[in-house]
Amino acid sequence: MKILVATEKPFAAVAVNGIREIVENAGHELCLLERYTEKAQLLEAVADADALIVRSDKVTEEVVAAAKNLKIVVRAGSGYDNVDLKACTEKDIVVENTPGQNANAVAELAIGMMIYMSRNQFTPGTGSELSGKRLGIQGFGNIGQLVAKKAVALGMDVVIYTNEVKEKHQRWKATFSLEHLYSSCDFVSINIPATPFTVGSVNYNLFSKMPKGGCLVNTSRKEIICEDGLEQALSERPDLKYVTDIAPTRYAELKEKFGKQIFATPKKQGAETGEANINAGLAAAQQICDFFETGSTKFRVNK
Ligand code: 3PG
Repeated sequence: MKILVATEKPFAAVAVNGIREIVENAGHELCLLERYTEKAQLLEAVADADALIVRSDKVTEEVVAAAKNLKIVVRAGSGYDNVDLKACTEKDIVVENTPGQNANAVAELAIGMMIYMSRNQFTPGTGSELSGKRLGIQGFGNIGQLVAKKAVALGMDVVIYTNEVKEKHQRWKATFSLEHLYSSCDFVSINIPATPFTVGSVNYNLFSKMPKGGCLVNTSRKEIICEDGLEQALSERPDLKYVTDIAPTRYAELKEKFGKQIFATPKKQGAETGEANINAGLAAAQQICDFFETGSTKFRVNK
């Protein structure tokens, strides 16, 4: 089988080597399309691929239509909002993700962002400490749980909000009200996927409820934030801060207007560690080989 790794933002070389080893040991062929700049390059590369591994690369209806032999797409990562599930399902193409594989990298970045914002973005001046502050976790999946554990180790008081109540959540302080989460926490870390239910859901009403000096931390997707609401809250409350791994659509304008109240990484880097690339990339390759060998679809998301 021909397995294509199409990554506009490539995996670390060590991860690519590991992927190649898994793929070739299983008797398949690995094709690489890295740092591509044009959609046409992806359309051409995917034409005869049997399997596809991507990161945040967009697997649109057009890409699916161009892929004549495609049987499985694995998003090496957590969020699969970049894959057109409907188009894949219609062509009986299995879509999987690799849940949890890059979670630690993202969780570490969330903690780093909180420190960065609390310390004046590493410029002179008096900052504040995380210890003793309250952190709200919105979304208690693999990433949210790791952020919570790391925050506790730093002396933070952690409160979780999740719509899934599971046994493993019992030991955490929880709230069933998002309003309460936002109004009672010095920091809120967003760890939810972008879905039709979550897009635009973090709005003025929530953000503006944060206590004095509140800081919103987004390592998820920019679409979850209502940008107009964000702008209004930042403008009415010069004490509020927003830090994100995915720049808002109007970032340049917002940065100009709000200066140090807002910070976005230049390019999404939550999962940009060698470790996360190895974990997610190798898991993706293994899942594809298992699919071809045994028919396993354990991590299928388009059921
Ligand atoms: C994810 O959903 O796993 C993260 O957003 C990582 O995305 P990336 O692989 O494009 O860095």
